[in-house]
Amino acid sequence: MKLLLVIAAVIALSAAAPQGANPRDATIVEQTNDNIGVGPWNWSFRTSDGTARQESGTINNAGTENEAIAVRGSITWITPDGQTHTLNYVADENGFQPEGSDIPAGRK
Ligand SMILES: *[C@@H]1O[C@H](CO)[C@@H](O)[C@H](O)[C@H]1NC(C)=O
Repeated sequence: MKLLLVIAAVIALSAAAPQGANPRDATIVEQTNDNIGVGPWNWSFRTSDGTARQESGTINNAGTENEAIAVRGSITWITPDGQTHTLNYVADENGFQPEGSDIPAGRK
């Protein structure tokens, strides 16, 4: 009887265990940063839970009154159902411009 209870407890515990890893336990598996403080730059990272970001930027019309930061990047993440989503974007003098099918409704 005791053995049955222990077996039942073990089964219950394993059934309650999360299917995916806790996002809080994600670690950085790749990271780049190329930025000397002037001129174009870029950076990126990827974590063990499948999240990734990358961005590159430059200054448009440097030294003029129309000077503007222009960046291009992407965000990738995996939802609990295992699906990978990616949002690409440009942000420049024309505002934030998201691209892709994973843009929340009303933001296109
Ligand atoms: C940005 O990243 C690429 C590699 O993907 C590299 O060749 C380039 O030199 C980097 N730096 C800048 C400032 O764009």
